[in-house]
Amino acid sequence: MTVQNTPAPGAPPLDTRRVDAYEKVTGKARYSADRVPEGVAYATFATARIGKGRIVRIDTSAAAAVPGVVLVETRFGPDELRDVGFVMAGGHAVQSLQPLRGDHVAYRGQPIALIVADDLVAATEAAQLITAEYQPEPFTVRIDAEGAETVVQEEAIPVPALADIKVGDADAAFEASPVRVAGTYEHPAQHPVPMEPFASVVRWDGGRLIVNDSTQNADAVRFGLAVQLGLDPADVEVTSPYIGGGFGNKNSLYGHLGPIAVASRRLGRPVKMAQPRPQTFHTGSFRPDTRHTVRLGADESGQLLAAIHEVDQQTSRHDLFPCEITAVSSRLYAVPAFRGRQRLVRTDVQTPGFMRAPWESPSMFAFESAMDELAYATGRDPVELRLANDATADPVTGLPFSGRHLAECLRRGAARFGWDGRDPEPGSMTADDGSILGWGVAAGCYPGGMVPAVAHLSAAADGTVTVAVGGHEMGQGIRSAIALLVAQDLGVPVDRVIVRVGDTRLAPQHLTAGSWGTATALPAVRAAVGELRKALDVTGDMDIPAAVRAKGGPVVTAEATTLAPGQTPEILKQLDGGLLAYAGPVYPEFVTFSWIAHFVEVRVEPTTRRVRVPRVVSVADCGRVASPVTAASQVRGAVVWGISAALREESVVDDRFGGFLNNTLEEYPVPVNADIHQVEVEFIDEPDLLFNPLGVKGVGEVGMVGVAAAVANAVHHATGRRMHRLPIRLEHVL
Ligand code: MOS
Repeated sequence: MTVQNTPAPGAPPLDTRRVDAYEKVTGKARYSADRVPEGVAYATFATARIGKGRIVRIDTSAAAAVPGVVLVETRFGPDELRDVGFVMAGGHAVQSLQPLRGDHVAYRGQPIALIVADDLVAATEAAQLITAEYQPEPFTVRIDAEGAETVVQEEAIPVPALADIKVGDADAAFEASPVRVAGTYEHPAQHPVPMEPFASVVRWDGGRLIVNDSTQNADAVRFGLAVQLGLDPADVEVTSPYIGGGFGNKNSLYGHLGPIAVASRRLGRPVKMAQPRPQTFHTGSFRPDTRHTVRLGADESGQLLAAIHEVDQQTSRHDLFPCEITAVSSRLYAVPAFRGRQRLVRTDVQTPGFMRAPWESPSMFAFESAMDELAYATGRDPVELRLANDATADPVTGLPFSGRHLAECLRRGAARFGWDGRDPEPGSMTADDGSILGWGVAAGCYPGGMVPAVAHLSAAADGTVTVAVGGHEMGQGIRSAIALLVAQDLGVPVDRVIVRVGDTRLAPQHLTAGSWGTATALPAVRAAVGELRKALDVTGDMDIPAAVRAKGGPVVTAEATTLAPGQTPEILKQLDGGLLAYAGPVYPEFVTFSWIAHFVEVRVEPTTRRVRVPRVVSVADCGRVASPVTAASQVRGAVVWGISAALREESVVDDRFGGFLNNTLEEYPVPVNADIHQVEVEFIDEPDLLFNPLGVKGVGEVGMVGVAAAVANAVHHATGRRMHRLPIRLEHVL
């Protein structure tokens, strides 16, 4: 990897380890549920055991009689727990349905009672003793079953993300194309399953509510609880300094927080809830099931003439989770005519939501599988085909891309992988262990988003610099990227920089997701460093203790606010309401995406047909690499996610029961160490300076986009079988 940044004198090397590595591996990092105050009580839910219907009667007497149980509640009044809307419809909550506010059961697994006890064992035992009588109603959990209801866009409340994308007349261009390929692709529902479950501790300090929560969006929790409990947002503080994985589903207020806050107030003691794994499969948002039809038209040489990508995406009965599947398939290549159509289908589940590369990964599985098919239909090498269709401007808006080095990703990846040794004939290559070799390629892209950010810096006479900025550390390494920037800009050792994120007391906390965390925080931090230099009157190397003392300090502070390109300060008013002021990927003068190319080797064992992935090469263009160690780790992790999507994961449903059946880590398989072999990561590392002054773009999600397609394309190369459904199982390659 080439690193182009020139550190200030005395600055740490860019390949510095994670700044919080020591805390994490020694257990010193305190996660939400680890920070337990004196006298805490333990809460858990009892959940609905029907697919849909009404609760006729709940018997809580046996539960209440369990020694140690201090509260059993099945219904909170409308003034005790007010309405707070779905985060994607202007609210703050993970779904509009809030548990324990009525007798309606919208889906299996919905909480129907809250139990609080002196210890977790008593709470858990009591929860199992809750019995309910229901009046069941018909339901469906599958988008292709009777009862699933397609949302007709015209009838729906306006959902901009459902708008069709239309460039030219794609249908006519497809019909007129000399070469046409068409296929359907199914991508199942999946659950993010972060190692740390939804976990919170709440307590009251007089009229102030103090919350430790495992969240990617501490301000959504703060403002959401303020709405729900009728509090002034200034009286709610939320901290989330470490998150044991989030992947998108910790993006807003969860349904347990209001109930445990009310319970805590009633009981006059702190209350903790860490949800059991099976409950998280039904309280947490998940990646919805999608069904795709892709049609590509090209000339004989493989030059694209038309692309049509139609998608049905699952949503809940009660909310419309947006669909932006074709926002990426429309941007990958120079297609003169494109039509993207996205529809939602209502089913009886909790509201789906974000999961790492939520739309982009399924979108690319479908689209890049179709591109591979086009390569075979035209006799073009799959890498050459992609290079021949490279785009120089955004095909949808005609605006320039702020940065796009996808062709370079493909060329470098092909060279590093040894792609020119590939015989295109399916099944023609054999590995030295006798297995059938398959080599596949796919590209991917991910929108470059930004939100406004506020950064505070304070330099102390002891030589430390404390940074407080909006953002959350969920394992991706945002603390390290921020600490490195401050250390480099000021020329101070990285261990003198203290980074505070995920704390509503210190700076407005925007949602950290969509791979915009680093691109959002770093420009604000750099601007604050500039302000600090001004406040300290130091232009060159910084002797912080001396500079602070010269200003009469024990501390000297500075702050800066930055906006996304094209945003005006007006937008900052939204932050006062805890709402997300997202911008991107289309800005007034350009369009921003991160780009990647993946090269995958699979080995198919000839008799058992077991598919293994011994080798992956991924080359990413994410602008300037802010923190090489954590960026490479992000891409490797994302590649594991892609392999997992291709070969392992599926949230299994059954129309007879409702809910998700495989709701434990034993039954929801993800790759283990033995499944993951060589994953090589390379970065283009060209700053995207139109996007922001640091030239950094997101990397956490683009790393996953295209991996499943590259695996599926490699399986096709090995077996001659086109994979139309994920995950790929033995029976699909027999
Ligand atoms: Mo990510 S799915 O945008 O947290």
